[in-house]
Amino acid sequence: MKSKPFDTASVIGLGYVGLPTAAVLASRGLSVIGVDINAKAVEIINTGASLIVEPDLDVVLQGVVAAKRLRAVMTPEPADVFVIAVPTPVHKDNRPDLSAVEAAMRSIAPVLKKGDLVILESTSPVGTTARMSELVAQLRPDLTFPQHAPNQSDIRMAYCPERILPGQTLRELIDNSRTVGGLDTVSGDLACEFYRIFTKGHLSKTTASTAEFVKLAENSYRDVNLAFANELSMLCDRLDVDVFDVIAAANLHPRVDILRPGPGVGGHCIPVDPWFIIDAWPEKARIIRTAREVNEGKTGFVVEKVRQRAGRFKDPVIALLGLAYKPDVDDLRESPALHIVEQLASENVGQLLVVEPFIDELPPSLRGWNNVRFSTMKTALAEADLVVVLVGHAEFARVKDKEIAEKAIIDTVGLWRFRKDLD
Ligand SMILES: NC(=O)c1ccc[n+]([C@@H]2O[C@H](COP(=O)([O-])OP(=O)(O)OC[C@H]3O[C@@H](n4cnc5c(N)ncnc54)[C@H](O)[C@@H]3O)[C@@H](O)[C@H]2O)c1
Repeated sequence: MKSKPFDTASVIGLGYVGLPTAAVLASRGLSVIGVDINAKAVEIINTGASLIVEPDLDVVLQGVVAAKRLRAVMTPEPADVFVIAVPTPVHKDNRPDLSAVEAAMRSIAPVLKKGDLVILESTSPVGTTARMSELVAQLRPDLTFPQHAPNQSDIRMAYCPERILPGQTLRELIDNSRTVGGLDTVSGDLACEFYRIFTKGHLSKTTASTAEFVKLAENSYRDVNLAFANELSMLCDRLDVDVFDVIAAANLHPRVDILRPGPGVGGHCIPVDPWFIIDAWPEKARIIRTAREVNEGKTGFVVEKVRQRAGRFKDPVIALLGLAYKPDVDDLRESPALHIVEQLASENVGQLLVVEPFIDELPPSLRGWNNVRFSTMKTALAEADLVVVLVGHAEFARVKDKEIAEKAIIDTVGLWRFRKDLD
């Protein structure tokens, strides 16, 4: 009998979620095997570095790799617990794409042994953990699984969604409360024991399906509330009222807390996860679907606004500030700012000077356009007729009044709201 249930942990998928999780587990004394199909990521992680920009991650990573507590590989090896953190995007038609989760489950099946715990962390449609348990059970008929032998199975299966905020991942991994859903009670209990190794936050134990839905409900809640703010912003624009004044005043009401509008909603999670609910019951998920439509519509609305304003200049030079999906990160996934710049480039609205301090060069989708240039803030502000704020990076907030005094401004995030009278 082993003294501890978890000596060795394996994290499958070493991205924004998996890599910090692997590093933190290793820093707690576990022997950690990180698995990724990306050879470059594996190679870099084994040098103690990372492809991800996340405060303090490199420091922790260097320590645990040097101490041989974490190593990255491309093929799973035996471990006591497997944490799956691979991508769960949607297909072009917005239906869930679970191919990475399925591939990860297939890849660990051969190395599973009696007593192991498998935890799915990837955001997933309700019922995925149960379906994956069935899939692995078919691949390993020599082992029992919770659906066939509840609370007595060889393999324990649980679902535990991640709530981390990029940019604050290491702190939030430890401090956040979590929902832990076992396929049976024993799996849920064991998963809680596992998260106690590094989590200070409250662990609420529930079923796997409930935990799956909790994550989807959380992100749909954000999407719906952002849609409300974005809808207000479009109405205010039509009525010639400053939406940021409206929101600041309305939020003085003790029971009102309106979010800030932006150029749309981006990132790997919020624009994607509501589709997992809509896909499950399209006729009933009406508010959630409408929110998606409003948020996507806001991006087109900003493009139209830039097109109109640029049309007032003969050969417009347009500074576009930010490509990331939110302030002070390098993450461009599903970024509305990026979509806006791509659209403006394809419509040839003017000379586009793109400023994004968190990356070193234009992303592939913007290379090859001769109307698009990667620019410094200084050059962009010096040359532009029209300045469009797409992301509220702290660096952009530090711009001095005199630098933009002569410019037309479209500020989609309210970063310069006190300068609105310049517009
Ligand atoms: N990024 C976030 O802030 C965040 C927050 C909460 C939840 N999530 C969810 O967590 C999951 C992972 O997201 P992420 O942001 O870490 O993704 P990511 O794209 O940053 O990383 C995923 C990693 O998995 C690897 N991978 C893909 N298929 C694999 C396989 N079969 N075997 C091994 N590795 C494989 C990829 O190469 C990549 O390195 C998603 O379901 C996401 O929705 C993400």
